[in-house]
Amino acid sequence: MPKVTYITPSGEEKVVADAQGNLMTAAVANQVEGIDGDCGGVCSCATCHVHIDPEWAERVGSATDIETGMLELEDSAGENSRLGCQVELTPELDGLVVRVVGR
Ligand code: FES
Repeated sequence: MPKVTYITPSGEEKVVADAQGNLMTAAVANQVEGIDGDCGGVCSCATCHVHIDPEWAERVGSATDIETGMLELEDSAGENSRLGCQVELTPELDGLVVRVVGR
């Protein structure tokens, strides 16, 4: 599975070499600062908010309508915002870089 680099709210790079599941589950399993996943991945808490590195935005794809509705409640949402639990990790995303928004 892909290698993912999370840039934490404090500016540290946390590299997960064999990221499993989705961006939220892989972060929680590897104690990535700033991603809590409070709702367990059902798109209702936004504690997994990340900004996708612009170079990767097209490959990752855009948010669904439900996800967009959640993100609209977030002050720190931008055009590359995604909820980590809604981004399934595939081999095509090897090398992905995301910035963790945190709270
Ligand atoms: S874990 Fe709750 S929205 Fe992603």
